[in-house]
Amino acid sequence: MTTEANVATKALDQFTPLDADVLKCPHQYNARMRSEAPIYRCPHTGMFFVFDYDTIRRIAGDPETFSNKFGGAMRVSGDVDPRLVEIRNTGYPAVDTMLTEDPPVHRRYRGLVNQAFTARRVATLEGDIENIANALIDVFVDAGRVELVSAFCGPLPLTVIADQLGVPRTDLPLFNAWSDAFVAQLSRMATPDEELAAAKLIVQFQHYFAAKLDERRRDKRDDIISDIVHARLEGERPLDTAESLSIIQQLLVAGNETTTSAIAEGVLLLIQHPEQLAKLRADATLVPNLVEEVLRLSTPTANMWRVCTKDTEVNGTRIPAGSLIQLRYASADRDERVFDSPQAFDVTRRNARANVAFGYGVHMCIGASLARKEMEVAFRVLLERLGDVALDCPEGDLVYPPNVLLRGLAALPIRFAPR
Ligand code: HEM
Repeated sequence: MTTEANVATKALDQFTPLDADVLKCPHQYNARMRSEAPIYRCPHTGMFFVFDYDTIRRIAGDPETFSNKFGGAMRVSGDVDPRLVEIRNTGYPAVDTMLTEDPPVHRRYRGLVNQAFTARRVATLEGDIENIANALIDVFVDAGRVELVSAFCGPLPLTVIADQLGVPRTDLPLFNAWSDAFVAQLSRMATPDEELAAAKLIVQFQHYFAAKLDERRRDKRDDIISDIVHARLEGERPLDTAESLSIIQQLLVAGNETTTSAIAEGVLLLIQHPEQLAKLRADATLVPNLVEEVLRLSTPTANMWRVCTKDTEVNGTRIPAGSLIQLRYASADRDERVFDSPQAFDVTRRNARANVAFGYGVHMCIGASLARKEMEVAFRVLLERLGDVALDCPEGDLVYPPNVLLRGLAALPIRFAPR
């Protein structure tokens, strides 16, 4: 069992970067690794872990040597339960598309999805996002207390992307359950029973959206599903159903859990730093920089995989072909060589936007402008409508469920005075 105290003192080979306690609270461990072993081969797993900003950008910027085709590694975990195989056989095959493809094929998918995710579409969403945020706050504002993750941080991005995917509001609970199922699968921490339940939900998701794709093939509307169905790159075929489902799944999972975590962490940081909150209340033009500073400190996609395609050497460390490499984006965002006093929360930080919370290179987040807009609106509306915000539980009760890629608060109970 690793604890925060012995992360600082124990020999590095006595625990792994994927230990649950390190994943829950990685900052002290990451800081130690940046100074002692910025590229680390874990003797227990044979995997490589990269901790410093420059090397992470170098690797993310070289997709030829460091591939995103880690989909297989994420899907296959030792002996696969035959019940799991049986459930999966009733759905569509898992195929690699954007996140788990490499150039030149990656460019083709990205091009198709860019058509559905234009800056024009994001710019037109601000009013809708504001309406959703206000409607969510209306429900709890008079109570003076709320669990903010389930009442606001989760439903806000979920509702925005559901609207964009043409899912009616009445199906939001289903949509939420599917998102949780994908995250459970990604976490690699689920029990066998949880894995079975998640697999059933994922098949249900596939059939739901396969039907929606059929509908939109017949009847084009102004939503992302229609854009995906009808998108063509010059001279190319349209996406098939398995490819379209893979893309919709990525939009749901990549855009939901991450934005939820970023909003929740931002509220927690403001509660913990009243002097920063006072600066924001005095000057609302600081909100966009608040968004960048929150992205830097929260880095919801804390870690991401790459697979080495050929024997190579990085800063003197030999990495054999086929090695699995984890980029620790959350560590890069606290690299003391890039950010002064990197553990400090400073809403006026000059280079906050240099964060790599959205990654770097060809896979850099396709939803970055949407996520930034959602965070900006969320913080602005929360600041307008809630005063004297305080934690409604001891700080030690806050939980970050262990997950090999994503990091975020499970719940955030707060008290406040309606304004
Ligand atoms: C604060 C919120 C978000 C964070 C922190 C985040 C983070 C990331 C990161 C780090 C990557 C790069 C992964 C890599 O290096 O391989 C990525 C890619 C991606 N993100 Fe986001 N994301 C967020 C919101 C969104 C939203 C709102 C959407 C869509 C609705 C989205 C969709 C995607 C997709 C589809 C990819 C894969 C792109 C590709 O491989 O070309 N993300 N995101």
